[in-house]
Amino acid sequence: MDRSSIKPGQLISLTTNSAFYKNLYESRVIAVDKDMLCISMPSYKGLFVPLNVGFILNIKIFTDSGTIEFTTEVLYRNVTERKLYVRMPIHESAPAVPATGNCRFITITSGKGGVGKTTFTINLAIWLAHLGRKVVILDADLGMANIDVLLKTSTRYSIVDVIDGTKGINEVITQTPGGISIIAGGSGIQKLASLSAAEYNRISAGFSYLENHYDFVLIDTGAGLSTNVTNFIYASDETIILTTPEPHAITDAYSIIKVILEQTHDLNLRLVVNKCESPGEGAEVIKRITGVVRNFLNYSIDPMGCIPDSKLVGRSIREQVPFSLSNPSSEVSRSMKELAEKLCRFSGQDEAGGFHGSRISSFVGKFMKLFQAR
Ligand SMILES: Nc1ncnc2c1ncn2[C@@H]1O[C@H](COP(=O)(O)OP(=O)(O)OP(=O)(O)O)[C@@H](O)[C@H]1O
Ligand SMILES: [Mg+2]
Repeated sequence: MDRSSIKPGQLISLTTNSAFYKNLYESRVIAVDKDMLCISMPSYKGLFVPLNVGFILNIKIFTDSGTIEFTTEVLYRNVTERKLYVRMPIHESAPAVPATGNCRFITITSGKGGVGKTTFTINLAIWLAHLGRKVVILDADLGMANIDVLLKTSTRYSIVDVIDGTKGINEVITQTPGGISIIAGGSGIQKLASLSAAEYNRISAGFSYLENHYDFVLIDTGAGLSTNVTNFIYASDETIILTTPEPHAITDAYSIIKVILEQTHDLNLRLVVNKCESPGEGAEVIKRITGVVRNFLNYSIDPMGCIPDSKLVGRSIREQVPFSLSNPSSEVSRSMKELAEKLCRFSGQDEAGGFHGSRISSFVGKFMKLFQAR
């Protein structure tokens, strides 16, 4: 994004994440500063729309050198002067591109709990968005759904509202700064196991919408294998299994891989080792796990990579700002960026690290077969 091309007077079109302000609003740039942008109070058909502090805005600025798009937040407003102040994006994000039509559903799971799945999912999403991909995270952790907390946002609606038919899936997607969209699973994930025919149709329409509008749907699950988690794994295009170098995390990772492969080998499993003290330690763990999986389970798991153990992670959780946004050039952020780039390169069946399985049937088709209606 070229901030220097943003100039006072330029036209802005914007949408909000609020269910009450669903139109396309018009505004103008008033002043630009390093961290903030002052814009005129948005209007619709000539009437001012007094958007509030905390609203998430998807902004398009029409500059002389092209359109600049980003998601931001209203920091404060001056109603008498009809001005809004919004945060300038921390990231120099690549221009938003429409979904490519090759949506990839990726489940993130682990044998042992607390290995860093949620942290990994959020930071992976940030870098995928930075690379210009449209990304949505489905928080499918039954016990400890906490993605919204880690992103200092709150999700009002969830998959439950889609199942009940009170909301469309596009209405339960919450935009957060950094270009990520999230969907809370809530108790809806449990409900998937016993859907009526009408509910089944609604959820399948919802997943089809995601398939058509996003490049990546990242599904953050709880640890261990419940039926819901295995169904997500068997329906997904890829599954990333996270472990740490701790001995019991390694044995639990092996156990979960073994159970998953008992059903079928027609899957794309990838391995990531988190919280590594050194690159050497990560490489050793990858070598051990890929070796035993090859020798005992006759399967080549993709050794996707390692992430260092870093104090920044705990701090970013306390501050509720992901480290990839607050410290994008730190070692841990760079390792996440590399993994996102690698994932983008694995785009086809013939590439190294690419798909084992066929992609003949879509996520939606496979998922709906696994979760048959009552
Ligand atoms: N690379 C890392 N370096 C240091 N600490 C980390 C790293 N990744 C995650 N953590 C820490 O590990 C803890 C668990 O992280 P997180 O909640 O992401 O794990 P999880 O696998 O999603 O857990 P659960 O199984 O409960 O869903 C957090 O306290 C987080 O700060
Ligand atoms: Mg988690």
